Amino acid sequence: MAAAAAIGEGKGKERVCVTGAGGFAASWVVKLLLNNGYIVHGTVRDPSDESKNAHLKKLENALENLQLFKADLLDYNSVASAIAGCEGVFHVASPVPASKVPNPEEEMLKPAVDGTLNVLKACAEAKVRRVVVVSSCAAVRANPNWPKGKIMDENCWSDKDYCTDTENWYRLSKTLAESEALDFGEKNGLDVVTICPCLIIGPLLQSTVNASSSLLINLLKGASETVENKAHHIVDVRDVASALLLVYEKPEASGRYLCVSHRIKTCDLIDMIKRMYPNYNYPTNIVEVDDDEVTISSEKLQKLGWKFRPLEETLRDSVEYYKAAGLLE
Ligand SMILES: NC(=O)c1ccc[n+]([C@@H]2O[C@H](COP(=O)([O-])OP(=O)(O)OC[C@H]3O[C@@H](n4cnc5c(N)ncnc54)[C@H](OP(=O)(O)O)[C@@H]3O)[C@@H](O)[C@H]2O)c1
Repeated sequence: MAAAAAIGEGKGKERVCVTGAGGFAASWVVKLLLNNGYIVHGTVRDPSDESKNAHLKKLENALENLQLFKADLLDYNSVASAIAGCEGVFHVASPVPASKVPNPEEEMLKPAVDGTLNVLKACAEAKVRRVVVVSSCAAVRANPNWPKGKIMDENCWSDKDYCTDTENWYRLSKTLAESEALDFGEKNGLDVVTICPCLIIGPLLQSTVNASSSLLINLLKGASETVENKAHHIVDVRDVASALLLVYEKPEASGRYLCVSHRIKTCDLIDMIKRMYPNYNYPTNIVEVDDDEVTISSEKLQKLGWKFRPLEETLRDSVEYYKAAGLLE
């Protein structure tokens, strides 16, 4: 992985904080930081929950350089204690529900938006050098006014009213959190950089299955016989981690970065996995839909030096992990 090999070099023992450290993407960020000589403060909601945290303690260099802090995004003091003394922060934590939640305001919007503001206030208080906030393509692509056929770049924002009208609370939570984060940075002289990954897949470090991984697992298990042939934008979780470290370490990084590697339609995705693993129970009925044919570009991130791996490698490593973990039975 060229980007990961090039970053982190020459770093001393810099202290950084990763929020939601036990999650799918954050675990790979913690691993990459520990491999690159950082001292990491990881926030977790329940340090005694081994199912969510045990894997972190087993990471290389964790014994010496990883310290877990109990913190909830909505509890300012807990967040501030974890961030105190850090030079940098990777704010990854945010609710990513696998299905509809009964109370989106309390369960999604508040933790995403108020939680992000708590993190940023604590960063300002601790005089952190740079904060990298993980947003999402959910904050980009829900924009009915973007010209049809025009490649989506960092100038494209999801329309908040459209997200509300369509009751897409996840998209609304990420759009509000990211725009308020950039706004907070500008108003308070805090260096805030945001990253918007698309659908993240790849091998898991944690023992519980997160929402985006379950999408691929369900496809392999033929959980639904009928699927829509729509375009997916995919990025490997390890390439997301390297993107976060890249924008943290490159002094010239600024503003917003879309983080997308591959665009592939459901049909082609199934064909690609089938060629490697012919014997799974793939969906049999693929229906054509009126797809909006959106294309999202990561040119800005690539110009900064970001590299990503081929989709075949991501799929193979994911399936091998799922097999070994018994997730496909
Ligand atoms: N996966 C994707 O396809 C994708 C795509 C684009 C962007 N993203 C973004 O990437 C980030 C990580 O997502 P992921 O896929 O790694 O999801 P994940 O595995 O579900 O991780 C989410 C993390 O957020 C933490 N969290 C949620 N609410 C919290 C709260 N109130 N206080 C403290 N921590 C809280 C969770 O802690 P607990 O373990 O205690 O629940 C968990 O560690 C999120 O910001 C997400 O929006 C994900």
